[in-house]
Amino acid sequence: DRIGFCVYLRIAIEWIENRGTDTMNNYEFYAPTRVIFGKGTENDTGKQIVAYGGHHVLIVYGGGHAVRSGLLERVEASLKEAGLTFDTLGGVVPNPHLSKVYEGIELGKKTGVDFLLGVGGGSVIDTAKAIAYGLAEPEYDVWDLYDRKRKAKACLPVGCVLTIAAAGSEMSDSSVITNEKTGEKRGTNSDLCRCRFAIENPELTMTLPDYQTMAGCADMQMHTMERYFTGKGNMEITDSIAEALMRTVKSKTLILHKDPQNYEARAEVMWAGSLAHNNITGCGNGGFDFASHRLEHELSGMFDVTHGAGLCAIWGSWARYVYKNCLHRFVKFAETVHGIAPQATEEDTALLGIEAQEDFYRAIGMPTSLDELGVHPTDAQMKEMARRCAIAVGGQIGSAMVLHEPDMYRIYCMAAGKQPQD
Ligand code: NZQ
Ligand code: ZN
Repeated sequence: DRIGFCVYLRIAIEWIENRGTDTMNNYEFYAPTRVIFGKGTENDTGKQIVAYGGHHVLIVYGGGHAVRSGLLERVEASLKEAGLTFDTLGGVVPNPHLSKVYEGIELGKKTGVDFLLGVGGGSVIDTAKAIAYGLAEPEYDVWDLYDRKRKAKACLPVGCVLTIAAAGSEMSDSSVITNEKTGEKRGTNSDLCRCRFAIENPELTMTLPDYQTMAGCADMQMHTMERYFTGKGNMEITDSIAEALMRTVKSKTLILHKDPQNYEARAEVMWAGSLAHNNITGCGNGGFDFASHRLEHELSGMFDVTHGAGLCAIWGSWARYVYKNCLHRFVKFAETVHGIAPQATEEDTALLGIEAQEDFYRAIGMPTSLDELGVHPTDAQMKEMARRCAIAVGGQIGSAMVLHEPDMYRIYCMAAGKQPQD
């Protein structure tokens, strides 16, 4: 009886926490990054670093596309022209490793680096941010920030030349690093690491493989969805911006899947990627959900999958698990983003919206299950991901519905098409 009462109490508390309101909440919006957008803008990189007080720069890049395309050479020329000196650190991998961060910190200490420049995507920029934290507080282990052991008090200035529209790290307050020894993928948030400037030339993204373009577009759309599916309130202007962003990303992604050299579509998604994660779509709606993201981080920590693809593989299961708790937002999503006509019941409309979102993923070659993602976790691995996820989020996460460890496990099971083994 006591257990029954506790379950009842938990449901009641969650209902109160999750019920939809039309309240507009207080908020703070801070987006200090100067965005320099358009063709040829990478040639201004040196000037920007000088303007933000850099002298000796560490240029961070990835597995080599920036070298092959000649971008790195152009960026280096622009730094030399501006009278700057620099070191380079290549070899950052997707789901970037902590060991590369330590390598950068050691190099930066030796050569007196005072500015970090990322030339690449989220993995490169997040690595640059992590090195910047580490160099600003060299007496501490930088992993402590990611492991929630302490808060950053300082960070060297960071700038970036963005080469993929996806993670939104160019304007976000976030850095996500994987401790490759333990398989833990963790993020840390602070305004200190926000890029001083972001060079965004859509042409630079034209060398991307289709899979990365599509995964990137799915990721940015999800950054808006994570803020849209909130049980805590709304603000019409914020909803309208969010809905336009989700619709535009959908239509331009479909264009890019067929016509990857389309400059206009590249430009639209590049700007959308930055807006999607600078929190403009989070103003007034009282917080965000971000459960799909946290569930995905455990997946890519354990199985090293592409972040955007991992999100697509999880999202439908998350949505079917939570939608009844946040029905009014799922209905609005179905109608405004996917153009679904109101059905006999709100539930029917919401479910058609979830299906339309999954149809979109299929149309751009993204997975809608773990199987399609190519990941086949055992029951023990799903329990372990749920356990780690719960620890990483401090016990619970979500606004559409507050999730705890058993919920996380069930969502992994749904995404894997398996029955929970409780
Ligand atoms: O290594 P290189 O040669 O640079 O190749 C990369 C990499 O293989 C390639 N690429 C990038 N630009 C290219 C290109 N290839 C050809 N032409 C170009 N123009 O694309 C691959 C993926 O790069 P990556 O940087 O990993 O992509 P993305 O921007 O999607 O970043 C993903 C990482 O960011 C994290 C993710 O978890 C993941 O670790 N996130 C960071 C966030 C943040 N800091 O705000 C928020 C996100 O939700 C996300 O969690
Ligand atoms: Zn993301």
